[in-house]
Amino acid sequence: MEACRRSSTRENSRFVVQQLAVLDPAGDLARDVRDGLSRPQKILPPKYFYDELGSRLYDKICQVPEYYPARTEAALLEEKAGEIIEEVRPDTILELGSGTSHKTTHLLNACEANACHASYLPLDVCEEMLIDAGNRLLDQYEWLKINALVGDYSAGFDNLPGSVGSRLYVFLGGTLGNLNEFDARDFLASLRGMMGQNDYLLLGVDRVKDPRVLHAAYNDSQGYTAAFNRNILNVINRELDGHFDPEQFEHRAFFNEDKSQIEMHLHSVSSQTVRIDGLDMNVRFEPGESIHTEISRKFTPEALASLTAAAGLSLVDHFEPENGYFSLVLLSPASVKMRKIK
Ligand code: SAH
Ligand code: AVI
Repeated sequence: MEACRRSSTRENSRFVVQQLAVLDPAGDLARDVRDGLSRPQKILPPKYFYDELGSRLYDKICQVPEYYPARTEAALLEEKAGEIIEEVRPDTILELGSGTSHKTTHLLNACEANACHASYLPLDVCEEMLIDAGNRLLDQYEWLKINALVGDYSAGFDNLPGSVGSRLYVFLGGTLGNLNEFDARDFLASLRGMMGQNDYLLLGVDRVKDPRVLHAAYNDSQGYTAAFNRNILNVINRELDGHFDPEQFEHRAFFNEDKSQIEMHLHSVSSQTVRIDGLDMNVRFEPGESIHTEISRKFTPEALASLTAAAGLSLVDHFEPENGYFSLVLLSPASVKMRKIK
């Protein structure tokens, strides 16, 4: 996104920032907003949350007490990274939707401890985050080389740099849950198609649990989730000359038990017509009418196993905390027999 291209890069032999693909983010945004806001149930794709402010708000969400996924996954990674790196011994680590890369430091610490000096390829739509995170990691690990990739993984993986040796693909945070059933299956199958026999995928997914815990996680008392949700309207205002007043939209998030997913919406608090100059479009809202901005799917171990198997991935390891709140799975394209369940 345009708004994410501001920081200065410290590009040198250890840090390269590469724009992936042919993508025209403004063009994509225009098409997606026009299409999404013309539907009977208005929708916006969640990838547009993550301009610079949205990425920082997500980081704040990860620190609120109600949002258990970030700290649960971080604790699992801290405990298990050594085992994962000893198993995989990657030459490269390619992380999809890397954000701040905070949790990745557990993997890099394990690389350091095992004298496994992998290079790191973080991929994200937000260039600002890639540069901040990259600069921080370069200071932390003097042996590390970074090739940051600015791009959109929903466009497929044909444009990813090829690899020599073994590669560990990493997709954390439960971000797979932000894709619907079909997109998640296609995403994993395309990734599987990219993987060589010595490659692995480390995938973090959120689990089904008490709906009260889920509800609290997406309605934090400090209001960061509400600000994150509304920020998508700021993105449209800035990139497409929109005239949304975010205060005229209320954040709502609830657990849809039938679909096993959190659904996040922005509800219009009044009858209003919003002009988007860049699209020459007027969007009408009745009071209470919503824009559906995100799903966040929650998995049972069985649903996760069937999704990964359908994509041709074999389970190598499954790590979970005692409360079963989150799963971290190590997957392989080979038909390696499942070795351990922890
Ligand atoms: N993996 C990190 C961040 C998760 S937030 C963590 O676990 O904390 C989701 C991240 O994915 C954000 O950094 C966002 O910018 C990125 N993202 C969302 N949609 C994307 C897309 N279509 N292509 C590439 N990155 C995307
Ligand atoms: C990035 N993703 C996994 C987060 C989630 O929980 O679905 C995004 C988020 N939405 C609201 N809070 C956090």
